[in-house]
Amino acid sequence: MNTLRGNGGPRIRHTSDDSAPYETISVDKLTPIIGAEISGVDLSQPLGNATFSEIQRAFAENLVIFFRDQELTAEQHLAFGRRFGSLHIHPAAPHAPGHRELMVIRADANSPRANGEGWHSDVSCDAEPPMGSILHIQTCPPKGGDTLFANMYAAYDALSDRMKTYLDGVTALHDGEEVYRGTYANLGVADKTSYPRAEHPVVRTHPVTGKKCLYINRGFTRRLGGVPGDESAGVLRYLFEHMENPLFQCRFRWSENAVAFWDNRCAQHRAVWDYWPHTRAGHRVTVAGDRPV
Ligand code: SIN
Repeated sequence: MNTLRGNGGPRIRHTSDDSAPYETISVDKLTPIIGAEISGVDLSQPLGNATFSEIQRAFAENLVIFFRDQELTAEQHLAFGRRFGSLHIHPAAPHAPGHRELMVIRADANSPRANGEGWHSDVSCDAEPPMGSILHIQTCPPKGGDTLFANMYAAYDALSDRMKTYLDGVTALHDGEEVYRGTYANLGVADKTSYPRAEHPVVRTHPVTGKKCLYINRGFTRRLGGVPGDESAGVLRYLFEHMENPLFQCRFRWSENAVAFWDNRCAQHRAVWDYWPHTRAGHRVTVAGDRPV
């Protein structure tokens, strides 16, 4: 992806659409920058190798992929996740009975909060944060409940060369304490004595694409390493505002039994809780990842 920077802020030139056609699935981009709807695949069935590798390709090219009308049992959802790697167990959130790897996502009339309301990359406070997350929404509100996704390669590319030089080699502390302590008390989940915290590079290289992306987020990133606190706060504030530019985003409107599969290494997301007192509910399977480098 090439980027230009004009006087008014970041501008991005979108990736060209001249990649090889897909043969086993259809891929319909939501925006030139991020997101694609995939059709022609039934995720409840074991995936053949050709379809699996085209899904991997669509995932790498689009950062978040969506599938509609997928009726999945817990076992089928888990099996789809396991095709991409071992599964991650959430350090705090409630899970479905008998399935520790199946996180419950639910907000209803009695909820004091909803999952993922601020920009974040899932559990980036882990030493080895999740590679990807697969969310299956079974109950939709009549309107609203969209999820926004943002491309962190594009956000990195659109930084000035001076800022890229400044960030080279800088690390940041990601801490789960503030995010998770007390958060699930209303659902009967007791707090743990401690929650994960980890230091990660601010700019990471994606292990599959080899491209650089920003890897900090408002949800978990607390401070930059090796610089005074006020400098850290100022630089993080600029980067958070920069990466939240709508130029880097897509917005997905859910329908019942839709699935979103996003790459936590190079994309952030934010769920919109604009549907109270209605219910939005589903499950998330999270695929384990590597230490960011
Ligand atoms: C999450 O952060 O996993 C929740 C996303 C959503 O509910 O759309």
